[in-house]
Order: sequence, then C-alpha cells, then structure tokens
Amino acid sequence: MSVSVLSPTRFLGSISGLLQVASLLALVLLLLKAAQLYLLRQWLLKALREFPSPPSHWLFGHNQEFQTDQELQQLQKWVEKFPCACPRWLWGSRVTVIIYDPDYMKVVLARTDPKDHGSYRFLSPWIGYGLLLLNGQTWFQHRKMLTPAFHSDILKTYVGLMADSVQVMLDKWEELISQDSHLEIFEHISLMTLDTIMKCAFSQQSSIQMDRKSQSQSYIQAIRDVKSLFYSRVRNFFYQNDIIYWLTPDGLRSKRACQIAHQHTDQVIKLRKAHLQDEEDLEEVRRKRKLDFLDILLFARMKNESSLTDKDMRAEVDTFMFGGHDTTASGISWTLYALATHPEHQQRCRKEIQSLLGDGASITWDHLDQMPYTTMCIKEALRLYPPVPTVGRELSKPITFPDGRSLPRGVHVSLSFYALHHNPKVWPNPEVFDPSRFAPGSDSHSHAFLPFSGGSRNCIGKHFAMKELKVAVALTLLRFELAADPLQAPIPVPKIVLDSKNGIHLKLRKLL
Ligand code: HEM
Repeated sequence: MSVSVLSPTRFLGSISGLLQVASLLALVLLLLKAAQLYLLRQWLLKALREFPSPPSHWLFGHNQEFQTDQELQQLQKWVEKFPCACPRWLWGSRVTVIIYDPDYMKVVLARTDPKDHGSYRFLSPWIGYGLLLLNGQTWFQHRKMLTPAFHSDILKTYVGLMADSVQVMLDKWEELISQDSHLEIFEHISLMTLDTIMKCAFSQQSSIQMDRKSQSQSYIQAIRDVKSLFYSRVRNFFYQNDIIYWLTPDGLRSKRACQIAHQHTDQVIKLRKAHLQDEEDLEEVRRKRKLDFLDILLFARMKNESSLTDKDMRAEVDTFMFGGHDTTASGISWTLYALATHPEHQQRCRKEIQSLLGDGASITWDHLDQMPYTTMCIKEALRLYPPVPTVGRELSKPITFPDGRSLPRGVHVSLSFYALHHNPKVWPNPEVFDPSRFAPGSDSHSHAFLPFSGGSRNCIGKHFAMKELKVAVALTLLRFELAADPLQAPIPVPKIVLDSKNGIHLKLRKLL
C-alpha cells in the first residue's frame, strides 16, 4: 500500500509562491488604481482651468484651509475673491465646484442632474433611498405620489397641531427660566419640531416633549452623531471605501447611530400598521379624512398602487422624519437668534403679532398670511442662516454658464446657498440683518434667495416649513423677550443642516 504525502517543504514552498503571486497582483492593482486616479486628476485640472481657486495639496486638497469651525468664514473669503464659482479640492482626485452666483444657480437648477453620488451615498445607510436621494423615474413617481400630502387643505389642519407643540415647549421654557434665564434653545426646538412632524405626518397622538429620556431624545442624539460622522467621512480619503469605513471606530459609531434612528422609525410604522389592520380600515380612513403622509405610503403599499416595497417605505419615513424636523429646527433656532440680536426688529414683530392675535390663545391658518413684517424677518434670517447650506449635483451632460465658461459631464457641483446668500455682489452688506430686503416690491434676482432650493428638486415641505416657522416665532414672541448671550455667541457649522458648534444660547424674560 502506498500513501502519497506532500512534503512540508514543498507545501510551504507552494504557499509562499501563492503569496508572492497575490502580492504581485495586489501591487499591480494598486498601481493601476493610482494611475487611474492620477489620470482623473489631470483630466479634472484641465476641465477646471477656467475656474481659478487657491493652491491645493495634491492629496489633502483644500482641507488645511477648511478647518472645521471656520469652514463658512473661509468660504466667504473665496466668494469675495473668485467670482461666481470656485473649485474646492477635497482630496486627490475629488473636487467639487462651489457655485454662488444667481445666474449660475438658475442654469443648474433648470436641469435634472442627479444628486452627487460621491457624498449623498453616505446618507443612504441612514435615510435609505427615499425622495431626497432618489433620481430619475423612481424619484418622479415618489414625488408625484407624495405631493398631495402637502396640499394646502391638509396643511390647514396642521396649524393647531403646530401651535400645541410650540406651547408645550414654551411652557417648559417658562418653568426652566424660573431658575436661570439662560437657555440653549436648539435642543428644545429640535424636540419640538420632531413632535410636530410626528403629529402631522405620522398622526402620533401624544406629545413626546414631556417624556424625559424618551426614545425621541435618543433619536435626536443619534441624528446629531450621524450628521457629524457624515461630514468627517466626506472629507476623509481613507473613509471612502465602505469595507474600510465600517471597520473603523467612526464607522461602528455611525452604524450604532443608524440603528437607533431606525428603531424610532420602525416603531412609528409598526404602531400605525397596528391601527390600520386591514383594507376596510383604510377605506374607512379614506372616506373620513384627508390622508396624511404615512397613510399615503400605506395605501400605496397595501393596494399595490405602486411598486413600493417595505424598504422603500422605511426610506421615505426616515427621510421625512429627518427632513421634516431638523431643517425646521435650524430655521426656527437661527430666526430666534437673529431677533434676539436685533431687539428693534423683535419688538416690531411682537407688536404686529399682538395686534393680530391678542393673547395668542388661538392661531389659525388665516393669521399666517397677515404678519408681513414677521415674514420679512423670517426670510432675512433664512438668508443669513440658510438651514440647508449646500446641496450637490453630478453633471449628467456638459454645462455652459451665462459668462461663457463651461464644465464637462461628470464634474461635481455644490450649490452653496450659504455663499449665495452672503455674496456681496448679490446682497450688499450681506452680514447685516436687514428685513427691508424682503419688503413688498423690492426686486431681486429670481435665484438670489434659495433656502428651499429651486427647480423640480426643490423642497417638497417648504410651505409646511414656512407655516411652522411663523407659528413658532409668533407664539414665542408673545410669551418671551429674547436677548443674545454675549458670552456664548453661536458658531455656525454646516452639518447637513446649519448647526451651531456650541448651541444657541439666549436670555429669556417672560412677558406679562
Ligand atoms: C426650514 C425648513 C426647510 C428647509 C430650509 C429645507 C430645504 C430643502 C432643500 C434646500 C432641499 C433640496 C435638497 C437637495 O437638493 O439635495 C430640500 C429637499 C427636501 N425637503 Fe426640505 N427643507 C425644509 C423643511 C422640510 C420639511 C418640513 C420637509 C418635510 C415635511 C422637507 C422634506 C424635504 C424632502 C423630502 C426633500 C427632497 C425633495 C426632492 O428631492 O424631491 N423639508 N429641502
């Protein structure tokens, strides 16, 4: 009997041979990738030659100049130096052309370029492919399906719910300032706007604001984490690859934060499904009342009116839960800060609201169109502090701007609403809070003021948001006098929405 045995030396020899081949292959792949990135960089440098920008490092781009807290101030300097647009290198071959001219905005927003996949894809583990991230035909179908949820007949019924949420927050403030008149408002306002969207879009009955340590507070904390981590990921060359990123401590934190956010939205969907168990229930609902956002999704899902899967539905709920509360929280917080730092305008708004509402016991839909000065102040605050400072697109075909400069297909552009709103060529003395810019009859470029973006991908919730802003500002000014805290001036930082690095601290005095 003969037994064939591989000798240990031959075995080790073949392993080391395999390792050598594998290392050689890896090296070749690495060199090919490096060559590809090099060629891409050369192509981009050529494509962008008509658009000057400050010198950048070949690997770290302009990251040195854009230190985290000073990002917006740095951008401001570029706006003053480079007209209309300027390329910003993030790293190696990753560049985005920042646009801040109204004519440029108009040309881009009239097109249907997809969202910039390079950065928006990092949002997908959290909000999935809902309306914000979708493109093409599927986006169009979802937008068409969800638009009725924002019809004015439906928004009308929300004003009372918005006012209830604001009053709960103001009651809390009253209690808190009996001990200390200083208050960090952003966090309270985030919880209030989450409460509002839960009641309006998802028909949640009870107020989440009174619940200390509630799931909603964990949700807000998770959103805060996920937004910071998103920003550090976009800027970090080593975090671009999914496999590498999910193994890093930041990746693990991001995963955990997404799980918490999903637990919250899953709970909302589960509760509603439990209420509407079968189609007869749904038909009954359809007969009795206007459908809210979640009803529309459930109907489409249950009646197979669309190809909406459970995953699509969750993505829309995650998208609206976030889009519907964080942006408005930013808008309301910065508006109150702007009024706190400009007492003369604050007082004028208060007088207008007092003469309209008296004690404010009830605020209705019709009131909201009768506060012109307050509306001017809100718009001026949205100009100075746009809640969504920037959005991104990837050019699907070449583009030529009105001054004759052009960009080829494939280039990424950032429409910086912050830079547009702070562009001195568009808004003289841009840092001055001057509500008269929005006085009736004052004429400005159609694309000079874009807090809600423009074109077909504009904000679906803009009317909802403006109503909520008016309700919150009006009721707050009736109850409190606001002053800024000079020792804790907020530092605006772009974290998907315009946030403040150190919160927004105000001094509140209860009015009689
Ligand atoms: C002050 C408050 C708000 C501001 C400043 C704001 C701003 C914006 C901006 C600039 C965009 C364009 C994003 C892009 O192109 O990437 C957008 C899109 C969107 N917003 Fe808002 N938003 C606000 C409130 C809301 C509310 C209350 C909701 C929902 C209830 C909402 C839901 C959405 C959705 C779903 C999209 C994606 C629309 C699409 O692509 O078809 N937003 N918003």
